[in-house]
Amino acid sequence: MEKIKVLVVDDVPQTRKDIIRLLYFEEDLQVVGEAGDGKEALQKIAELAPDVVLMDINMPVMDGITATEKISLLYPQTTVVIISIQGEPEYLKKAMVAGARDYLVKPLSSEEMALTIRAVHRQKVLHSSRDSQALLAENLPENGAQTPGESGAKVQEAKQPGQILVVFSGKGGVGKTTVATNLAVVLAQQEKKKVALLDLDLQFGDISVLLNLNDGSNISELVRQADPITPEVLDGYLIRHITGIDILPAPLFPQDAEYVSPAHTEVILSLLRRSYDYLVVDTPSIFNDITLQALEVADQILLLITRDIAAIKNAKTTLNILESLELREKVRIVLNRSDQDLGVDIPDLEKGLEITVAHQIVSDEKAVISAINKGIPVVISQASSEIARSFRRLGERTVNSRRLTMADKQGKSLITRIFSL
Ligand SMILES: Nc1ncnc2c1ncn2[C@@H]1O[C@H](COP(=O)(O)OP(=O)(O)O)[C@@H](O)[C@H]1O
Ligand SMILES: [Mg+2]
Repeated sequence: MEKIKVLVVDDVPQTRKDIIRLLYFEEDLQVVGEAGDGKEALQKIAELAPDVVLMDINMPVMDGITATEKISLLYPQTTVVIISIQGEPEYLKKAMVAGARDYLVKPLSSEEMALTIRAVHRQKVLHSSRDSQALLAENLPENGAQTPGESGAKVQEAKQPGQILVVFSGKGGVGKTTVATNLAVVLAQQEKKKVALLDLDLQFGDISVLLNLNDGSNISELVRQADPITPEVLDGYLIRHITGIDILPAPLFPQDAEYVSPAHTEVILSLLRRSYDYLVVDTPSIFNDITLQALEVADQILLLITRDIAAIKNAKTTLNILESLELREKVRIVLNRSDQDLGVDIPDLEKGLEITVAHQIVSDEKAVISAINKGIPVVISQASSEIARSFRRLGERTVNSRRLTMADKQGKSLITRIFSL
């Protein structure tokens, strides 16, 4: 197997030495060169064509962010992983804009570094290939010689099954995708959880737009090319975002939604639950068989509402349906754009719906629009805004809320409940 070629860029010779030493025993990785600043890095890339560059940020002559921008333009085959110091959130944003694919925080461990290099490289190879399935086969472990963990895989058995958080609303445009995306990012960034984000809005899912993903990998490609869906195959289709979350986007074209069946999503949901602490699921505004399946397996259903009559009327109907499906106890009401008075005040809303609002997200059109235009979630692009703070609080509460035990969940199957409606 060909080794992954790595270039190490840092202005401190000792740091470069340490990194090279840490990677020395990784048989599939080869450090092909080193550079002391961004300019030298560009020269070395032209000469050595490395697959992955480990890039420091603060360097003389040309800093790591500027160098990353140039690499993204000039050498699209080379992937950049930024190395930063703890507590530099501003840099994460810049690194993302510049086109870095992942980042590592000092002090570095050999294991984490090797896993990250393999993961970004694997993704690059898979997505730049037309025949991704053939390459995937090449990358599969041979005769159990390598466990998924050792190959840098994202989908692997965790100690305890993760929680599934389904963001739902019977009405479109209330903020499901905005909330799902930002919640996933705060769970990964702030709460340090292993997080996957699944777009089950199969016809009009737009998570890939919000996060500026253009790898082409998505759920319909996965189910068309993989039978059966194994953890290794699923792993190859997940897109690792620089914020640390792994994403399975919706199909590129609405007509491709039909390839995805409930049997597929059942496997995907269960595999992702097994390997992530949290699986955040975005949904369409309809009760179809796939949405119902996700609601059924959810640990928490975040039901989104806004303060207008149409959204509230819709929430009432949705709550009635969830009640009859015996899914009501998993529901937490999230009031989006909570400071926007669209004719209904919060106490009236709670009384009318016989609910309490569990969480409020403020409205901030300017920040949200600018985040969409940049392809960076608002919790990163405007980290100190009020809306980002409300997402961080939502993340905190999600992690601290009581987990429903198996006894809390209903024993009757969903189908029995639908027939008894
Ligand atoms: N808290 C908010 N403040 C300002 N704009 C928001 C907020 N939440 C959502 N939006 C905007 O509302 C529109 C619909 O949001 P989206 O997340 O796509 O909803 P859904 O997925 O439910 O259809 C988008 O343009 C989004 O940017
Ligand atoms: Mg949406």
